[in-house]
Amino acid sequence: MKRREFIKSAGISTLTAMVGSSVFLNACHTEEDMIGEPNWIVEGGFDRPLIIPPKAGGNVQLVSQSISGEMLNGKMTSLLSYRDGLLGPVIKVIKGETVDVRLQNNLSEETNIHWHGLVLPENMDGHPKDVFASAGSYNYIFPVQQRAGTYWYHPHPHGATARQVFMGLAGMFIVNDSEEAALNLPSGDAEIPVIIQDKRFAGVSLDYSPTDDEIMTGYLGEQILVNGIFSPYASVSQDWHRLRLLNGSTARVYNLALSNGMSFHVIGSDGGLLATPETVTSIMLAPGERADLLVDFSSLAIGQEMFLVSNKFNKYNLQGRQAFSIMKFKVERNASGSFTLPATLSTITTIPSSSSVKTRMFDIAATIGGEGGHGGKGRHSINGKIFDMERIDETVQAGTTEIWEFDNMMGDEIHPMHIHGVQFQVMERMGGRHELIATEKGWKDTILLMPGEKVRLIMTFPDYTGVFVLHCHNLEHEDDGMMLNYKIV
Ligand code: C2O
Ligand code: CU
Repeated sequence: MKRREFIKSAGISTLTAMVGSSVFLNACHTEEDMIGEPNWIVEGGFDRPLIIPPKAGGNVQLVSQSISGEMLNGKMTSLLSYRDGLLGPVIKVIKGETVDVRLQNNLSEETNIHWHGLVLPENMDGHPKDVFASAGSYNYIFPVQQRAGTYWYHPHPHGATARQVFMGLAGMFIVNDSEEAALNLPSGDAEIPVIIQDKRFAGVSLDYSPTDDEIMTGYLGEQILVNGIFSPYASVSQDWHRLRLLNGSTARVYNLALSNGMSFHVIGSDGGLLATPETVTSIMLAPGERADLLVDFSSLAIGQEMFLVSNKFNKYNLQGRQAFSIMKFKVERNASGSFTLPATLSTITTIPSSSSVKTRMFDIAATIGGEGGHGGKGRHSINGKIFDMERIDETVQAGTTEIWEFDNMMGDEIHPMHIHGVQFQVMERMGGRHELIATEKGWKDTILLMPGEKVRLIMTFPDYTGVFVLHCHNLEHEDDGMMLNYKIV
């Protein structure tokens, strides 16, 4: 939807709701400030040790089920999981291995697993058509043929993806290979999976109940969880640490930084290692994206604390208006090893634009009216189309290279666009931030488009033929229909 209409539809009711909040009213200077209430984040005490989900190999049994778990300190919440604890196991495999994961569906509804970022045969990819019923099971058997990196897995039943992920179904999937092993990156206790998700609670219950407006903006929670628990701290040594970050939120974008302003090093993104480390003081991470970071704790004294925070960013709808802490690091031990940041990490061969056989455009700026019933506000679409499971929207040739452009120039919502079945390179960003951020200099499967931005991506399709999807990874948008089928032939 265009900004004007949104103000018209959201302005009056939210203004009424804001009366009484003098802090907020004082901060209102422009019309844009009046767009809705920003779901202020509530921070906790950061006094609970971080939980690391257990590791599993590529041969593992998962059970999607309802359990109760301690997301909030000392309180039990009923949630969904792939095991008997919070979130799925961190599945770790070595490139070349064959994965054999059996999912037993003990939910009362359909589900499946999409292996986000992995390039897989159609029947293993977890397309929304390939869901299976309550009490059913499915064996995901596939070879892992791609480079080391931080991938993840989550359900993909159309219309229910956001809720199932929000309720707890997600896990990290790590691929290792010999190239990465030769770098001797921080490992063991110094390698920390950091799965960031915002949640909304009603008392101790998870509350997933997006309104029509929240389907437009994305459902934003007030509490930030890491690895399934609220407000944790990690005890660290004065060594270098590797943080494997995954934004597993349905809609919230984080502008990640360290609370003392210290710089850190981006070594990888969605599709594994960058060519060289990129030293930054902040990095944006959209839903579905990963960032592989190295942080040197040697300059912090024993007893010192530092937070992983999200800083404000230009306000788009309700996002980016508040800075908040996500988790705390407590430096409690002396360095036990030494590490030198390598000058080079890997080789990334740029796909030449001359090899592209076709350029496709995807207009993601417009919503279409009529059918949706979201208070007459229309529904999210791509090229004016709402997802239809049976319709093939684009057909590409296996093994060929194409340029895909996502255009949000005229839009006023944030859209992290994800393509199944392929890893791409980002050629350029036009409008808005104009340039690529550190993580976008490597292989990607999800790309963030702020309002007013357009990106050009280049990708070579694999030899796996079949039907795959591309969609917005704002999961409320995805469930609302912001998804298309493309077929590799
Ligand atoms: Cu992580 Cu089709 O999504
Ligand atoms: Cu979107």
